[in-house]
Amino acid sequence: MDIVHTVAALRQRLQHESAVGFVPTLGNLHAGHIDLTRIARERVGPDGCVVVSIFVNRLQFGPHEDFDKYPRTFIDDCHKCGAAGVDVIYAPDEAVMYPEPQGYMVEPPEIQHILDGAARPGHFRGVATVVLKLFNMVQPQWAVFGKKDYQQCRVLSNMVSQFNLPIGMLLADTVRADDGLALSSRNGYLSAAERMEAPRLYAQLREIKAALQAGERNFAALEGTALGALSARNWQPDYIAIRRQHDLLPPQPDDRALVVLAAARLGKTRLIDNLEVGLGA
Ligand code: PAJ
Repeated sequence: MDIVHTVAALRQRLQHESAVGFVPTLGNLHAGHIDLTRIARERVGPDGCVVVSIFVNRLQFGPHEDFDKYPRTFIDDCHKCGAAGVDVIYAPDEAVMYPEPQGYMVEPPEIQHILDGAARPGHFRGVATVVLKLFNMVQPQWAVFGKKDYQQCRVLSNMVSQFNLPIGMLLADTVRADDGLALSSRNGYLSAAERMEAPRLYAQLREIKAALQAGERNFAALEGTALGALSARNWQPDYIAIRRQHDLLPPQPDDRALVVLAAARLGKTRLIDNLEVGLGA
């Protein structure tokens, strides 16, 4: 496995590769990230090249968010990637990514302002901007993202489509702990008691899914019940929203492909999760 830190070294390393599968990350890698590298490998084959980037992108963190305390575990991340058969780690520092203040931004449309975007102004602009830069640096044929960050998948898939980027987007299912909690670097912020409580978020999503599949269509009531259940257990929910998968807008009566999205704070830790729901004919 090669570890490169500059655009020039990356280009040189990749110049003869014809099938590059790319997994962008903030680092502090867990089994969810590693599963994305497995999907990249599956797509490019044994002779292809799997690239993981590790870069904590200041641009996507709000002024009061956890940029400074975001866990940086580079050595450990390298070991995990090595064991997973990753070919190249690309770890630029801020001077490589942003040699001058980033004046040109990717400004996603209205979808950047709803759900997580409402709670985190500027977040998806920062994500889209860094991912476009990473795509231009790595120039992959394939890129893999986790549906754990469902809105991020939508924003980035739309960006690839509207800018005609020659990149195939692969969207991976969420990897969970045995008790259902979606793996996340931010789970490390939870106290022992909070960690015990944390699976309730996914449990609420499953309850909504079961009710929808049983025919319930009062979306506001389902969302309200789940919000109440979380608040009663000392969560501070940002939203629980039943939306349609393709544009994350409220469903119309004939929409069948839905997703339930949730974000809630437990103590000081903000957790997000979601669950797709197919309603059948
Ligand atoms: P990060 O939070 O490090 O996540 C990197 C990738 O791993 C994302 O595609 C995310 O959806 C995926 N992922 C996280 N937890 C997962 C889980 N439990 N199961 C499956 N996939 C999971 O998302 C980002 O970084 C950044 O916004 C980034 C795209 C790198 C841009 O800076």
